[in-house]
Amino acid sequence: MWLSEEKAFELAGEFETPLYVYDEKTLRGSCGEMRGLLPGRNFRASYSTKANSNIELLKIVLDEGLSADAMSPGEIYILELAGFKREQIFFVSNNSSEEELLYAIERGILFSADSLSQLELYGKLNSGGDIAVRFNPSAGLGHNDKVVTAGKATKFGVQMSFIPEVKELLAKYDLNLVGINHHLGSLVMVKEPYLAGMAELLGAAKQFPGLSFIDFGGGFGVPYKEGDARLDLSDLSAAMDEMIDGFLAGYDNKDVLFRIEPGRYIAAECGVLLGTVNAVKTNYDNEYIGTDIGFNALMRPVLYDSYHDVKIFSEEKAAVGPGPRTVVGNICESGDILAKNRDLPPAREGDLACVMTAGAYGFSMSSNYNQRLRPAEVLINKDGSHRLIRRRETFEDLTRTSV
Ligand code: LLP
Repeated sequence: MWLSEEKAFELAGEFETPLYVYDEKTLRGSCGEMRGLLPGRNFRASYSTKANSNIELLKIVLDEGLSADAMSPGEIYILELAGFKREQIFFVSNNSSEEELLYAIERGILFSADSLSQLELYGKLNSGGDIAVRFNPSAGLGHNDKVVTAGKATKFGVQMSFIPEVKELLAKYDLNLVGINHHLGSLVMVKEPYLAGMAELLGAAKQFPGLSFIDFGGGFGVPYKEGDARLDLSDLSAAMDEMIDGFLAGYDNKDVLFRIEPGRYIAAECGVLLGTVNAVKTNYDNEYIGTDIGFNALMRPVLYDSYHDVKIFSEEKAAVGPGPRTVVGNICESGDILAKNRDLPPAREGDLACVMTAGAYGFSMSSNYNQRLRPAEVLINKDGSHRLIRRRETFEDLTRTSV
């Protein structure tokens, strides 16, 4: 673990809590792993901005040689501010408006259409232009139904049987299909479902000669529980490599670029969320550790029942041993539970709760619910010094957009 208890208390003292803390070295390490997934191939990793769009982290990701995918004009905007060039940004959106497509077209940013309807709209706006199409393989993957983004029950992508209609629209608007992509879902710890989707996309690719790229999306998981096995990247890499060999043997463009779009794998492990224990109580034999980490600061446990390890940092050693305790936040809903019945020491007021593996889909999904202020963010630089990369909100921020 890259954050000591001592440093956690120092940062909480300096910046208050809740506080997201990121580690540059860990972030760079994860970028390197994804960048090197298919050595020897014409291959590129694109960071999926939605996982964490803090501009200082984006600058590091860019410096590590990754490109990026954007889901919205807002993400394009922040990527450009971070220094990404138009050819390094891929707009993989869903149900975009005409204005949103024009925002990308005016900037020369490649768009991936995820329905025939979006393909038609794009054709009308930019006939003769380059385009990508997102397909929907028959099965997706994910840690929760809400994050499975392929398969028969999802809204994403174009189902493979509509390939003739895709071809008709490409011809109708003289569009140049430069790439195809998919995203199966989020958090895969074994290779099989990823490879199954990949095989389907490569099957579709055969029907489109001369593609410049094929993009297999994100989804690479990280362990959330200490001691759990990691995704075996070298095993996955070898299997992907073999499949690509087979594909290339029958494909015309041997230089086609293979891409992936990892979000979680890049950002999750470089971040923790620090909170303060404000109150402890026993309600009908249930022991609660009451913190300032409401689900406005970290939504994953409430939204998906996601597991995050929580460590209690204490300046004094506890007199009693660990036992089942539930860590909760400060939001006015009973579901505001960070960690249920965990084997934890009896925390005291003033202790710190450290939520692990919180760098991805943490701050980026935070809100002002209950008029809580969104957390500040701090980065530990690679030389061990630290700097504030997003200030804590103030009450004035709560009314900034009121009219
Ligand atoms: N590409 C596309 C088109 C996506 O929609 C996503 C994520 C990714 C790439 C990156 O997926 P990753 O590598 O991070 O699995 N909020 C959820 C995760 C939602 C993911 C949405 N799409 C969570 O906290 O678990």
